[in-house]
Amino acid sequence: MEVIQVNNLVKYYKTKKKVVKAVDDISFSILKGERFGFLGPNGAGKTTTIRAILGLLRGVKGEITILGEKINPNKDTVYRNHIGYIPGELGLEPEFNAIQICKYLSELYDISFNLDEIKNIAKRLKLDVNRPIQELSKGNKQKVGILTALMGDFDILILDEPTAGLDPLIQSEFFEIIKERQEKTSCTVFICSHLLSEVEKFCNRVAIIRNGKIVEISKISELKEKGLKSFQLEFTSNAGLMEFVQYLESQFPSASVKSQSVNRIEFLITPENKRNLLHDISEMQWAGEYIKDFNINNSSLEDIFMKYYEIDNPEEER
Ligand SMILES: Nc1ncnc2c1ncn2[C@@H]1O[C@H](COP(=O)(O)OP(=O)(O)O)[C@@H](O)[C@H]1O
Ligand SMILES: [Mg+2]
Repeated sequence: MEVIQVNNLVKYYKTKKKVVKAVDDISFSILKGERFGFLGPNGAGKTTTIRAILGLLRGVKGEITILGEKINPNKDTVYRNHIGYIPGELGLEPEFNAIQICKYLSELYDISFNLDEIKNIAKRLKLDVNRPIQELSKGNKQKVGILTALMGDFDILILDEPTAGLDPLIQSEFFEIIKERQEKTSCTVFICSHLLSEVEKFCNRVAIIRNGKIVEISKISELKEKGLKSFQLEFTSNAGLMEFVQYLESQFPSASVKSQSVNRIEFLITPENKRNLLHDISEMQWAGEYIKDFNINNSSLEDIFMKYYEIDNPEEER
């Protein structure tokens, strides 16, 4: 079943100086229980898409369906009590602490919340739930946002850069928490994050958005199969490695070297070239000796997606 459907979504922002096309006719859908990663460089249109799904924008064109029902994208969604979301504005009640914020939101949106669960998550994230929001650092405010997104038994979690400002240990604890939650409740997760290694572990499907358009949407496993192969080779001598480097440059000029030391090299190569290269490294000798050791991996999500991040100043481009 499709839990979120977005069809031909368009959103322009009009400022005094110019008109910005933030989301340029995008369509996608997310199935129940999917862990969907929504990736792309800053300014690509991720937050705009999320805010449209939540009915937090005006002047949106297109069609959005949530849990099987069409919603008006220019009106706050009636499904707010089914959706865990990190609100942009936590500062509305600066003297409230984390628990009071959760209570406040639960009344506002009719969300039943589980106090023990909130306290447990706060403990794991190392957040003091008794301190007022106004006294908290940016990272700790972000933790309060996470608590509000996880406070109820939601069908859908929409997480827009949930780990921004958190330290690395807390970032991985966060991914552990949502993984456990998703496995327990089979909720649908829609997440934007620049932590590609965590996204790679957590998500089963990803879309990448760039300049307001979706440029890739695929299962992680498929992406990795058709993505570049990473070869790590070890030679007995530096002379062997140097001979190999010359061979690589002449036979496979498209290979990209990631690292190189005295007798080791790591590089990426297209899947089509894999077979020929494998043949040669097992048959050929380099400076009189066979290769000492080798390892082949699918390239990481980071390698696959880095090319989409390589744009300068996307905000300036448009
Ligand atoms: N309130 C706004 N007014 C004008 N332009 C905006 C506004 N919000 C976002 N934008 C512009 O829309 C584009 C998409 O922004 P956004 O959806 O926030 O991207 P992302 O979340 O992927 O970083 C950017 O060019 C951004 O500058
Ligand atoms: Mg954003």
